[in-house]
Amino acid sequence: MATELINKMAVIGVGLIGGSLALALKRAGVVRHISGWDTDPENLQLAEALQVVDTAATSAADAVCSADVVVLAVPVGSMAAAAQAVLPYMRSGSVLSDTGSVKQCVVEQVEPLARQAGVHFVAAHPISGTEHSGAAAAFAELFSGKRCIVTYGAATDTAALELVSALWRAAGSEVVCMDTLKHDRILAAISHLPHMIAYALVNSVSAYDQYDENILDYSAGGFRDFTRIASSDPVMWRDIALANKGALLEMIEQFEGFLAELKQDIHRGDGGRLYEFFRRSKNSRDALLHKEAKER
Ligand SMILES: NC(=O)c1ccc[n+]([C@@H]2O[C@H](COP(=O)([O-])OP(=O)(O)OC[C@H]3O[C@@H](n4cnc5c(N)ncnc54)[C@H](O)[C@@H]3O)[C@@H](O)[C@H]2O)c1
Repeated sequence: MATELINKMAVIGVGLIGGSLALALKRAGVVRHISGWDTDPENLQLAEALQVVDTAATSAADAVCSADVVVLAVPVGSMAAAAQAVLPYMRSGSVLSDTGSVKQCVVEQVEPLARQAGVHFVAAHPISGTEHSGAAAAFAELFSGKRCIVTYGAATDTAALELVSALWRAAGSEVVCMDTLKHDRILAAISHLPHMIAYALVNSVSAYDQYDENILDYSAGGFRDFTRIASSDPVMWRDIALANKGALLEMIEQFEGFLAELKQDIHRGDGGRLYEFFRRSKNSRDALLHKEAKER
C-alpha cells in the first residue's frame, strides 16, 4: 500500500512491538508523522535517536494531540492506565488500538473508557515477536509475513476495524479477525503455555543440586532452542499470565495430563506407548514445518 493513509499516529510504549510497528509503517509510507511516548525516559530518547519515531513527545497528552490513530504498546497490566492517560486528549472520532497479548481483559477495561471519550477502540495482537525488549530491539521487518489478530465485538466500529486492519497489512501482516475469547484460548495454547513451560524448565534445571556445579553450563543446542523464550521480559509475562488466567490454567491442566501420561509410561517401562507418544508429536511438528516450507 503506497498511498498515505493517516496524517499522525502516536505510539504509547516505544518498545519492541510499538517501535517495530512505527518503523514498518514509516517504511510503508502510510503515516506522515509518528509521535512516541514512553514512561522510561531513556528508552524514549533512544527511540528518537534511532529514528524509530519522528518525535519523542513531552507527555502522553502531547503525543496524542491531533493524532488520527493511537496505539498502546505497553504491558497488558498497564493498558488501562495508558488508555486513561491518553483518552482525555484524543480527538473525538479518532481511533485507539493496542498490541496486547491478551484481549478480553484489555477490551473490558479500555472499551468503556474509549466510548465515554468518543473514541473508537479496536484491539489487535501481532503474532510475532522476539525475546528482546525496548526501542533498540525494534525492526521494521518484525511483522512481515506474520499474522496479526484483530478482534471485534458488538461495539466495534466497522470503519475503525478496517483502518486498524489496513495499518497491520501495511506493516506486512496477514490480518485475521476473531472474537476476544477465541483469541485468548488460542494464544493460551500456542504461546502462553510454551512460555510457562520454558520458564519452569529453566528454573527446574537450575534448581538441580546433585553436583557442586551449575549444570546449565552443560546446555547445548536443544536446551537453548527450547528455552529461548524464557529470556522474555518478566513484567510482560507476569501480566499475560494474570490476564489470561482462565484459559492458561485450562491449558496447564491439559499439559499436566500429558506429562502424567509420559511419567506413567516411563515408570512402567512401556516402550510401545512411549514410541507412539513421540511418533504422534513428531508427525504433528513435521507436518507444521512442511506446511510452512510449502507456503514460503
Ligand atoms: N514481545 C513480544 O513478543 C510481543 C508480541 C506480541 C505482542 N506483545 C505485546 O505488546 C506489548 C508491548 O510488548 P513489547 O514486547 O514491545 O514490550 P517492551 O518492554 O519492549 O515495550 C513496552 C514499553 O512500554 C513502556 N511502558 C510501560 N508502561 C507504560 C505506560 N503506562 N505508558 C507509556 N509507556 C509505558 C515501557 O517503558 C517499554 O518501553 C505488550 O502488551 C505485549 O503483551 C509482545
